[in-house]
Amino acid sequence: MAKLTRRTVITAGAAMAGAALQPVPLLARDDAREGEGAHSNVARVRLMINGREHQLSLDRRTTVLDALREHLQLTGTKKGCDQGQCGACTVHIRGERVLSCLTLAVAVQGQRIDTIEGLSPPDGPLHPMQRAFIDQDAFQCGYCTPGHIMSAVACVREGHARNDDEIREYMSGNLCRCAAYPKIVAAIKQARGLLEPA
Ligand code: FES
Ligand code: FES
Repeated sequence: MAKLTRRTVITAGAAMAGAALQPVPLLARDDAREGEGAHSNVARVRLMINGREHQLSLDRRTTVLDALREHLQLTGTKKGCDQGQCGACTVHIRGERVLSCLTLAVAVQGQRIDTIEGLSPPDGPLHPMQRAFIDQDAFQCGYCTPGHIMSAVACVREGHARNDDEIREYMSGNLCRCAAYPKIVAAIKQARGLLEPA
């Protein structure tokens, strides 16, 4: 058995350290992370938005909100808190109101997504809820308005707009820093008779 000396221990240690410091294929690892594939963070995602199909390569952690705003330039949907507290990012998915900042794009592939841009045709008349918000002067800065309108349309469809209290309760997930709440209630009451409950 070889004699164990301080020199042999140091030499063996240095050899092991050298083995551990073999060149690390950093580029290859980064490439693998960035490309599409089973072990990649990037996925090919098919989104159906306002009746149009979009094929995107997205980081799997991309929210619907960021896919809309950052990848498709559909900036009508607003980012307020980005953590599910303000309702500014409300869209409809399969006809139901959803907070797009809390929804991963990969989780809603192929499902129908409707945003404020698709609520009325580009050259056509405004949706009755959009018209009502204008008629009732239901906004000031307007930042919360797309989320409020999408939520209000769903609120009426759900049958949750029968009186003022119910409207306030079922619209309570949408915040307005300009405090246009009384006029928002008035707008929903104006439009509700023109919309079909679910
Ligand atoms: S941005 Fe989604 S709830 Fe505020
Ligand atoms: S109109 Fe300004 S936040 Fe609602």
